[in-house]
Amino acid sequence: MCGIFAYMNYRVPRTRKEIFETLIKGLQRLEYRGYDSAGVAIDGNNNEVKERHIQLVKKRGNVKALDEELYKQDSMDLEVEFETHFGIAHTRWATHGVPSAVNSHPQRSDKGNEFVVIHNGIITNYKDLRKFLESKGYEFESETDTETIAKLIKYVFDNREIEDITFSTLVERVIQQLEGAFALVFKSIHYPGEAVATRRGSPLLIGVRSKYKLSTEQIPILYRTRNIENMKNICKSRLQRLDSSTCLHAVGNKAVEFFFASDASAIIEHTNRVIFLEDDDIAAVADGKLSIHRVKRSASDDPSRAIQTLQMELQQIMKGNFSAFMQKEIFEQPESVFNTMRGRVNFETSTVLLGGLKAHLKEIRRCRRLIVIGCGTSYHAAVATRQVLEELTELPVMVELASDFLDRNTPVFRDDVCFFISQSGETADTLLALRYCKDHRALTVGITNTVGSSISRETDCGVHINAGPEVGVASTKAYTSQFISLVMFGLMMSEDRISLQDRRREIIHGLQSLPELIKEVLSLDQKIHDLALELYTQRSLLVMGRGYNYATCLEGALKIKEITYMHSEGILAGELKHGPLALIDKQMPIIMVIMKDPCFAKCQNALQQITARQGRPIILCSKDDTESSKFAYKMIELPHTVDCLQGILSVIPLQLLSFHLAVLRGYDVDFPRNLAKSVTVE
Ligand code: F6R
Repeated sequence: MCGIFAYMNYRVPRTRKEIFETLIKGLQRLEYRGYDSAGVAIDGNNNEVKERHIQLVKKRGNVKALDEELYKQDSMDLEVEFETHFGIAHTRWATHGVPSAVNSHPQRSDKGNEFVVIHNGIITNYKDLRKFLESKGYEFESETDTETIAKLIKYVFDNREIEDITFSTLVERVIQQLEGAFALVFKSIHYPGEAVATRRGSPLLIGVRSKYKLSTEQIPILYRTRNIENMKNICKSRLQRLDSSTCLHAVGNKAVEFFFASDASAIIEHTNRVIFLEDDDIAAVADGKLSIHRVKRSASDDPSRAIQTLQMELQQIMKGNFSAFMQKEIFEQPESVFNTMRGRVNFETSTVLLGGLKAHLKEIRRCRRLIVIGCGTSYHAAVATRQVLEELTELPVMVELASDFLDRNTPVFRDDVCFFISQSGETADTLLALRYCKDHRALTVGITNTVGSSISRETDCGVHINAGPEVGVASTKAYTSQFISLVMFGLMMSEDRISLQDRRREIIHGLQSLPELIKEVLSLDQKIHDLALELYTQRSLLVMGRGYNYATCLEGALKIKEITYMHSEGILAGELKHGPLALIDKQMPIIMVIMKDPCFAKCQNALQQITARQGRPIILCSKDDTESSKFAYKMIELPHTVDCLQGILSVIPLQLLSFHLAVLRGYDVDFPRNLAKSVTVE
């Protein structure tokens, strides 16, 4: 996830300093979406609109680092005033290419900065586009997918058949070649004082501010007919002839400002009047007028885009409709798990390709054993996938808590492959374990959510889980994405195993339906809230299960203890009679995870042991489970999926439960006491 912000002042004089301040403030509001590098594109010193050149300033680090860099630019006069100006800005969360100035946005078409673009999303066919453009002589300077967009628009411009082709027509032609998800804002020296923005799959909205009355409250969509498209003649003169009522502008074409952003948090302090773009809308501002056109009819089929008035407060907007980042991140999981698989799992051919591991696959296949190392939630993701990794790789798999692994001076050999699982990529224990394994010459693999983090830099190869930034201290969406990344690794390893093909197809099919099933689980939120109402005054909560769902219990209990401060334990149901049974009575709250998997019969056994001691279990079970229901005090019924993926669905009710319990107990969910998001000390 990245943050896009752009600002146009039309006939509203602004000094360069004021423009910088607006752009930087916009980026700071979006910093929660990612913050490993940032950049802006603004006009050079010349105040004559027609003769401007574009200046790029980009910097690795957070927005503050960019802010400092801007003021170091000797060539820029801060007091120069622009009556009309368009500046674009971006804060990046790396997905392709390490965080660096050259990989940060805006990306440019050429050294003369003829076209510059900012992008949020992932272009899945960028390699093909890049190959094509390289064959035409374009030289790339970054590792990003976004640079192909900047080069592509220049290619379309250089090969235009009509001299005065409009900026929006160029963009229209570019997005017809793009696959994947994007929100884009373009600026060009060929179209000074003009802006074009578009989106598909990634959010983008436009704020409008003017002290004059706007000419319209509804912007009619201009549809390009196929005919017109075939004639390829959407030229400037045609757009200029459009009736002015189809465009938004301040009456009398007077002063107006436009703000483009990934979300409303960056806009709300300037204006509460916004237009939400839909997929494939192309919004263009020329001569202070905003028009929207599209080639295809929109999904909503709404022939216009309304200018809406936002009623929300800033804090509220950053968290969407959620009261905490943790809650927002729990609800983001249908999207985050999809992003983890995007471009990697081919559901038609039942194949999986993790680009970051490809070059080392042969070596991994030859190894003696896999050691999967992490802390806290990341360790639980390793526990959750151990069985399926053993099954698919047919290798011994050790899962290790980083601190304990180090304490034991665990023997590691050069033919071991060691995985380091970490959301932040900076956890000290995991990092030290990585260095220890490197010293022992093992091959090291990072599974992180943070490109450019220490773990992703220091490992030999790795997988970026692409879950998007996680702000809440309690990890939620990173867990499900780590889980899927490890399963994808197992699937990639077993591609040639004939005996495993049916099983692989079953798992890949299961992966495909996960986003929809997660939505179904999230719809149980109210029921889980009601359960929390019953439990929130308790001191303890036990969570029991076994097999594929033992990790679910560990992770559920961790979530409960870290944000609710209740005592909670994840218990392996097979161990019940070896001690924990002594805790069971009528009062002790117990959650049991019982799924229709190979451990089902054994879990029934544990259930009997609990009810025989007057225990009153709350059971997380499959929808069609008529057996467990006979003994349940309460049931939460979940959709069924492949046994080895069920833990992705069964952990979500426990994430939700911990959230509701913490809120009911009056605690700050995002900042639990004594804990930090990234633990960079041993
Ligand atoms: C629990 C939690 C922690 C982290 C652990 C490792 O909700 O967030 O247990 O999982 O500190 O952190 P990473 O994954 O960043 O290495």
